[in-house]
Amino acid sequence: MVDVILGLQWGDEGKGKIVDFFAKDYDLVARFQGGPNAGHTLYVNDQKVVLHQIPSGVFREGIINLIGNGVVLDPVTLKKECDIVSSFGIDLKKSLFISERAHLILPTHRALDKAAELSKGNQKIGSTLKGIGPTYMDKTGRNGIRVGDLLDKNFTTSYIKLRLKHQRLLDNYNFQEDISAWEEEFFEALEFLKQQNIVNGEYFINNQLKAGKRILAEGAQGSMLDIDFGTFPYVTSSSTISAGVCSGLGVAPQHIRDVIGITKAYCTRVGSGPFPTELENETGEELRKIGNEFGATTGRPRRCGWIDLVALNFACMINGVTRIVMTKADVLDTFSELEVCTDYQLNGKESREIPFRMDRQKPVPLYKKFAGWNSSSNAAKSYAGLPDTMKAYIDFINEYLGVKIQYISNGPGREQIIKVV
Ligand code: GDP
Ligand code: IMO
Ligand code: MG
Repeated sequence: MVDVILGLQWGDEGKGKIVDFFAKDYDLVARFQGGPNAGHTLYVNDQKVVLHQIPSGVFREGIINLIGNGVVLDPVTLKKECDIVSSFGIDLKKSLFISERAHLILPTHRALDKAAELSKGNQKIGSTLKGIGPTYMDKTGRNGIRVGDLLDKNFTTSYIKLRLKHQRLLDNYNFQEDISAWEEEFFEALEFLKQQNIVNGEYFINNQLKAGKRILAEGAQGSMLDIDFGTFPYVTSSSTISAGVCSGLGVAPQHIRDVIGITKAYCTRVGSGPFPTELENETGEELRKIGNEFGATTGRPRRCGWIDLVALNFACMINGVTRIVMTKADVLDTFSELEVCTDYQLNGKESREIPFRMDRQKPVPLYKKFAGWNSSSNAAKSYAGLPDTMKAYIDFINEYLGVKIQYISNGPGREQIIKVV
């Protein structure tokens, strides 16, 4: 069976920490989409590690980690990350496997990402500039180069052909930057990649399923950044939702059991695009400061606001969420009053639906107020130890969404998580 952990908001919900926590109950952890635009933070022996390409099960003994076909892979990032992970004594030869069908991010994809963003001016997506959009464009445009192609004798010819095509596009953008240093490290990293466990991912994972192994699929980004159902065009270029698991790993839908959705107790977004509950005031500043809301990949300050139940309800529907983990509840510890968005006001009417183009239709959030708990929750070890005001907040969200919040995360540490009874 396959369980899925994915983000229900605009990313950075704490997926890395939660996957690392749950991974001990599984045999294999697999990434099914996205690439180094992801930044998944975990703490190993109190040391902070941010993973961009490698699944977050990698620090758990005896667990296999698979980079699936739906992922786009930057060999340079992978190599750096493998060095970091190996320095913890992890033997990646035993624990990391890469699908031959995963598409490669080339240096020119990164350049194209940058050139495209620059050309958009104030309509830019706020991309992480990791080359994600251009690489997925070459995938769906049937031009891309995949990990398995590395082992083909015509690899260099394919590379030169694609690079030439990219150069014409870059010339069109009048992109002048010299990327020869990027290319140098890219070719070095390809040699490293060739030595890794490159597998036929779909047989690899289905053989594991046949053997009765338990698989955890790890999402990147968040549901509101999904290419189809997110706040298009301010989204990423992959299927971040549960449906992406099937195409991103080659597993059939009947294997999927639980879909565990992660939400923060409030909400953040990094990059451009609509965010109805954003607080562009002191309260937003405070959330950013206390929650240390700065991008794990780009270091950019994250935009902060109250939890948005209209958007969360939509994400639960699209993903078929069966359980929820709420992270960063401790960040709200010092707020005397909290707000929860229950409805949007759209064209003068109340609505609980996500409109076609939030950036144009600009829904106004309507809130229900809650008393804050005004106490320190990050030392709590059990549900009974949590303040009643927090329980009231959780109960309301449970009831609104019709999906149970099963765990509350009350700190960044591996064991700072409480089961809701
Ligand atoms: P991801 O991309 O979904 O894995 O999330 P990120 O790693 O980008 O961002 C989540 C941040 O919140 C990281 O710095 C985590 O260490 C931190 N974090 C996760 N859970 C909690 C929590 O319950 N409380 C606090 N205070 N921090 C948390
Ligand atoms: P994790 O996995 C938060 C955002 C970018 C930008 C948009 C498109 O750590 O939750 P892209 O580089 O994909 O073309 O950028 O998506 N974005 C993320 N925001 N967390 C992420 O990943 C993100 N990955 C992309 O900021 O707005
Ligand atoms: Mg992140």
